Amino acid sequence: PTRLLLDVDTGIDDAVALLYLLGVPDVHIEGITCTAGNVSAQQVAANTLAVLELAGVTGVEVATGRETPLEIPLVTTEETHGDQGLGYAVLPPARQQVSTRSGVDLWVEAARANPGELTGLVTGPLTNLALAIRQEPDLPRLLKGLVIMGGSFNYQGNTTPVAEWNTHVDPHAAREVYAAYEGVPVDRLPIICALETTERIECRPEHFERLSVAAGQVPELLSTDDADGLRSASPNPVIAFLSDALRFYMEFHRLYNQGYIAHLHDLFAAMVATGEARYTAREAHVDVETESALTFAQTVGDFAGFRKLPPNARVVTGNHPEEVFDLMISRIASLAWS
Ligand code: BDR
Ligand code: CA
Repeated sequence: PTRLLLDVDTGIDDAVALLYLLGVPDVHIEGITCTAGNVSAQQVAANTLAVLELAGVTGVEVATGRETPLEIPLVTTEETHGDQGLGYAVLPPARQQVSTRSGVDLWVEAARANPGELTGLVTGPLTNLALAIRQEPDLPRLLKGLVIMGGSFNYQGNTTPVAEWNTHVDPHAAREVYAAYEGVPVDRLPIICALETTERIECRPEHFERLSVAAGQVPELLSTDDADGLRSASPNPVIAFLSDALRFYMEFHRLYNQGYIAHLHDLFAAMVATGEARYTAREAHVDVETESALTFAQTVGDFAGFRKLPPNARVVTGNHPEEVFDLMISRIASLAWS
């Protein structure tokens, strides 16, 4: 099986990614750590536990890490993901409690106990991973691989003209993580899923309709005419949840003139981590701007070797959005519910 260590800031697209992962038979989630980003770290943990319970999954350790970015104050984005981070969806609080272990310790201890076995997947800011690498500088070599959703290369930002959200929340952490990967063998270098490929994963109402049908429900379309906040009546709780979460996320994208769609960034990164998504990637030296007011948190990819620095990442350059949706539909529809 593919054994994954997750770090998330759940978040609507993080939640979709998690549901997808829970639907892949050959994937084992070794633990999930929560980082502050879309909402506070505590809210992220509550959301993550609630999504696990929604899918009927128990026994996956969920831990919180540090509650703030390394050097700058935390900024969250309720505007994008809703007051609690899951759009219009309101899930019952989970029975399972947050782990007493820190998320940073979880990553370090799990990686040490399973050298070369675990693949990391980070779909939020890199705060926890940076702290884990401070604690265990060999972490890049202890992990089998690492997949990161973050950044934007030769493309626009989604938070400033040049910066992507996860990197903008904690650019110092991102910079530290990429620096730690200098000199690491190419097959262990992080695979970065950045906006130029994740914004191609445009979830439209018809994708959701196909999912609801595949899950045995009446076709449910995320109608643009629905009143804000209206709740889905689907008897399948996963479908009802996704309906309420995605409708909010689509309304947010429409507000920013991107159409009635939702970018499922983290879902694509999850599929790269499981090996289910096809993609192309290029090695680059990646660095993050942390000084300039104008270009703060911009990711800079040196693909041509101008800076004479070794590659420290593999940046995804091509993907296949419709295959991502086919996979999303079949995996999430396979989740048991009652
Ligand atoms: C990233 O920012 C968050 O809002 C999403 O969950 C995703 O991880 C995209 O920039
Ligand atoms: Ca996220």
